[in-house]
Amino acid sequence: MAILIKSEAEIEKMRISGIALRKVHDAVKSAVRVGATTMDLERVAAAKMDELGVQPAFLGYHGYPAVLCTSVNAEVIHGIPSERRLLKEGDVVSVDCGVIVEGYYSDAAVTHPVGKISPEVEKLLRVTEASLYAGIRKAVVGGRLFDISHAVQSMCEAEGYGVVRDFVGHGIGKNMHEDPQLPNYGAEGKGPRLKAGMVLAIEPMINMGSPEVKVLEDGWTALTADGSVSAHFEHTVAITKNGPLILTL
Ligand code: MF3
Ligand code: CO
Repeated sequence: MAILIKSEAEIEKMRISGIALRKVHDAVKSAVRVGATTMDLERVAAAKMDELGVQPAFLGYHGYPAVLCTSVNAEVIHGIPSERRLLKEGDVVSVDCGVIVEGYYSDAAVTHPVGKISPEVEKLLRVTEASLYAGIRKAVVGGRLFDISHAVQSMCEAEGYGVVRDFVGHGIGKNMHEDPQLPNYGAEGKGPRLKAGMVLAIEPMINMGSPEVKVLEDGWTALTADGSVSAHFEHTVAITKNGPLILTL
């Protein structure tokens, strides 16, 4: 399928979706604390979506049972919120969430520290988030898709981290997942040419150890094969003639 180009009016709608999503993320962030469960975060997110009058993008997606993905420590993505998963001092929890507003999707993720975390894990979070922004800076008219990938990969591998191969970013619009797929690894100067009106979910998933992941028996939870901690940061970004426009700020 071709990469769909959005009009300025559509991008404006996606920005409204992204702003609502950010409010959900802010509410979740303030609920992250030692002793909270990942189901507590799910309830906060669901309540905020209700209050804002927006729809969850994940609930029911291929049968996914929640509005949030909450992935703790070695869980990379798609952790399912649970009453039994208690956050403890030194954990990290990756919160991934999407909403739909007037038919337009937005998608964003952030890895939160729980209490005081180790300097090593704190650096993983810092570098992963910085690599997201390095990728975003390459989301410009006339560039190539894998310039984004390369920027993420080179920054993270320079620190010895593993760039997850099995999951990728994606185009987004009236569907959560549109073309193109956007790997977090690739060669500079390669891939489709970037045009104004493309909207991408850029989402580095970075492991402190090897890039390998495995999926649990629940069919969803992806965790690092070597048990190392993983981080995930994501924004929905529009490519415009004035440069990258982050819709989920
Ligand atoms: N946020 C994920 C992505 O970027 C989608 C979550 S899968 C779901 O592709 F099932 F939880 F919705
Ligand atoms: Co995504």
